[in-house]
Amino acid sequence: MSTRTTTEEIARRRTFAIISHPDAGKTTLTEKLLLYGGALHLAGSVRARRNMRATASDWMDLEKERGISISSTLMQFEYGDACVNLLDTPGHKDFSEDTYRVLTAVDNVVMVLDAAKGVEDRTRKLFEICSLRKIPIFTFVNKMDRPARGSIDLLDEIEKVLGIHAVPVTWPLGSGGDFKGVFDRLTQQVFLFEPTKHGQHRAPFKVSSIHDAAFRERLGEHYAEWMESVEMISTAGEQFDHARVTAGQMTPVFFGSAMNNFGVQHLLDYFIRYGDPPAPRQTETRVVRPEDPDFSGFVFKVQANMNPKHRDNLAFVRVCSGIFEKDMTVLDPRDSARKLRLAYPQRLFGQERETVERAYPGDIVGLVSHGNFHIGDTLSATPGLRFHEIPRFAPEVFGYLRNPNPSRFKQFRDGLGQLLAEGVIQRFHLPEDISDAPLLGAVGPLQFDVVRYRLEKEYGAVARLDTAPYTLIRWLEPDTTRAAAEKLTLGVGVTIVADADEELALLFPNEWALRFVEERNPKLVMHRVSPRR
Ligand code: G4P
Repeated sequence: MSTRTTTEEIARRRTFAIISHPDAGKTTLTEKLLLYGGALHLAGSVRARRNMRATASDWMDLEKERGISISSTLMQFEYGDACVNLLDTPGHKDFSEDTYRVLTAVDNVVMVLDAAKGVEDRTRKLFEICSLRKIPIFTFVNKMDRPARGSIDLLDEIEKVLGIHAVPVTWPLGSGGDFKGVFDRLTQQVFLFEPTKHGQHRAPFKVSSIHDAAFRERLGEHYAEWMESVEMISTAGEQFDHARVTAGQMTPVFFGSAMNNFGVQHLLDYFIRYGDPPAPRQTETRVVRPEDPDFSGFVFKVQANMNPKHRDNLAFVRVCSGIFEKDMTVLDPRDSARKLRLAYPQRLFGQERETVERAYPGDIVGLVSHGNFHIGDTLSATPGLRFHEIPRFAPEVFGYLRNPNPSRFKQFRDGLGQLLAEGVIQRFHLPEDISDAPLLGAVGPLQFDVVRYRLEKEYGAVARLDTAPYTLIRWLEPDTTRAAAEKLTLGVGVTIVADADEELALLFPNEWALRFVEERNPKLVMHRVSPRR
């Protein structure tokens, strides 16, 4: 039993996710971080997962992977006095709604860049989401043991492409075959790199000062040039400013090699020191602070059938305030007159699960749900408290999902209902809805594959998808009536639909059709995402 006070428990928590472009080194870094936390068994499962991902051609082959990827959704470990929650983000290329939701549950982000490639496409997209929330971002420039781009050039790219100030905390000594270590600008110490055998988990290093004769000798002819670059970043660059890091305006940058476990401890130590503890969160009516005595949290992920044998359904809750206790009751998010008991709370460790007796702000709890928790739900005993943390994204691909086998109607309906509740896909209603071919919308086409795959594997319903001719959606003002929408001049191919909250939206086949509607209805206000959420 902890002897710490609640305030201490909150202050020592660091909850974060790692974002990167595939192959930049997220898995390797995760693995090393877990080793520092002594969570060796978790490190193994992270690697196993990655290997499966690499050998499988796409998501569909990955029934087995799901078991691993989902159970490694949360990794919690102790490091020094800190309690670290590392949330895994799914690695699929265009299935990013899921990733975005995970990012709402963290207080910090570590961004991994490949030193030879810099800021890549997917990193940029994920970064945009993080910057909307203004959360601290720590950058790890990985693979310095390989030929890399110029370090100043990389900083410049981070600033230009991402629009955030980049401040190197460590500064590399060469790269590739010439990578000799890093200089810690805050402590003014040099850490020399000695390549380790693959798999060894703490790279040995020796420390000296940059004016040391031995160090000069080690850098040889590069010494003068390197000193110049250190001076340049000290004079021309920004200075480390903790407040700006917290505000998400400045990213501390670390250089290293995850594979060689070099520079990882630096990152971890600074992250523990300067990363944000759980932050206050905005609800519809007021700000909820982690120290507030009443428990509150929100559901950011729902996952059914994690274990196909048990047909279970877990809702992942981020604790925002108060203390979560097993068997406590909260108001039913859909009927505040009812209470729900939070029984069977779980914490996931690799493949294993453990019952949670108590959890603090910053922690993630998995609740066994019987369909009563949906993504975005607020859990609290306080009437009217509602977080608005989960972003909604505008679908860009649409299709009719058909059930060609009437005898499987029930399975098709139940399965789709569950997947809609999990937020795997969005459903839209046409005026004369054909219930055996619902219109679905997704951000990326892989979402449709996931729906069909899971319907078949988990519910035994083989579904067919017919593409719908829309590529754009715009929501109308909340509470617009159908009669009012029908008075608009819409042109060819534009359709009025209702979303799951019964808010009306227009579907367009292309940009031309959208522009036509804008021109013909100059007073019409339209929204890219539902203004209701
Ligand atoms: P990801 O999760 O971001 O997709 O990347 P992951 O960690 O799996 O790393 C991608 C590849 O880059 C892996 O090689 C990994 O070993 C390698 N890598 C990661 N960090 C470093 C580093 O600091 N230096 C060098 N040289 N390589 C690094 P792979 O061949 O795809 O896999 P594996 O056979 O090594 O497992």
